Amino acid sequence: MLDVKKIRADFPILSRKVNGQDLVYFDNAATSQTPQQVIDVIVDYYSRLNANIHRGVHKLSQEATDAYEEARIKIQKHFNAAQFYEIILTSGTTESINLIASGYSTILQAGDQLIISALEHHSNIVPWQMLCEKTGAELKVIPMTLKGTLDMQAYESLLSPKTKLVFVNHVSNALGTVNPIEEIITKAHAYGAKVLIDGAQACPHIKPDVQALDVDFYVTSAHKLCGPTGVGMLYGKSELLKALPPYQGGGEMIATVTFEKTTYADLPHKFEAGTPNIAGGIAFGAALDYMNGIGMEAIASYEAELLAYATAELKKIEGIIIFGEAEEKTAVISFNVGVQHPYDLGSILDQMGIAVRTGHHCAQPIMDFFEIPGTVRASFSFYNTFEEIDRLIAGVRKAVKMLQ
Ligand code: ALA
Repeated sequence: MLDVKKIRADFPILSRKVNGQDLVYFDNAATSQTPQQVIDVIVDYYSRLNANIHRGVHKLSQEATDAYEEARIKIQKHFNAAQFYEIILTSGTTESINLIASGYSTILQAGDQLIISALEHHSNIVPWQMLCEKTGAELKVIPMTLKGTLDMQAYESLLSPKTKLVFVNHVSNALGTVNPIEEIITKAHAYGAKVLIDGAQACPHIKPDVQALDVDFYVTSAHKLCGPTGVGMLYGKSELLKALPPYQGGGEMIATVTFEKTTYADLPHKFEAGTPNIAGGIAFGAALDYMNGIGMEAIASYEAELLAYATAELKKIEGIIIFGEAEEKTAVISFNVGVQHPYDLGSILDQMGIAVRTGHHCAQPIMDFFEIPGTVRASFSFYNTFEEIDRLIAGVRKAVKMLQ
């Protein structure tokens, strides 16, 4: 059982007013809110530690380096990576994916095949299209079903010895579908293909064990799980990361530099050119501490109750269409009401202090599949309440009446 009242007191933003109303924040899939414990870590960094890392003999640099590297260990432990140097700190999921795509541009050849799914966010589509343009590799797409799940038979028929890489999200950001990544990974490995899982939407709700999954690459962002924006991670099996060339050149990623030749640093620094988001990295570790302090299982089970309640209540509204009704879902509901445009509904809800996301959610192929311009998306977190869902339901009813 979560003490939601106590948890809410950790989040200063949850007590603010929006348009004269108590804020109801249901855009957690875009960015989660930040507890005071994580805000304090950021303030503490700039108040006490601010210095560049891995570079100085002076005290501040050493303390900042220690705090940053401690965060890396927290991330390693949370995801159960075998080695700390398999955790590369990046600016977020998008950069993590681009880093891998850039590396594979030197490895793939014309005729190789890559598989993505119809449920991907643009950040797990566009980098691979760019990679295919560069290398002559071909992109195949696992189709989706009307329930918003992946057609796993079609996946099997796409796999072949030509398949080199498979990229699938753990959870769809637009629909909340939890994909069967264990099966996706095992089947890809049977053909010798490597698998990257985009965990941006899964990690706020599920604690992945990268060794148990035997996943090759797993990526996520801190701002989805109570951390700051602009920081995320790439987990990669060490032998695969070692085989990839650096993503960016610069300071910190080298062993030696002369004008004739540069040699590269060992993992993880080979992929961490330039001054990183130091406060962000430390706060990412603090955010994981915060989530683990509450308990990922308790979070998931409370959010499942919120989802079930909101789904049942929304279904009572005439003309409601819910997109994505997979049996395994995280706490995301994408919906439209009759012919009302999602932007209109979202704008009226905003006037009532209720924050939802509207539009295609950076997943246009999903909207094309359903032949809609977009949806209203309400995404819940462990600090949301049943009363807030009641406000959403009342708000949607009122908005629909106003628009008629
Ligand atoms: N990818 C984020 C979302 O789904 C921004 O809203």
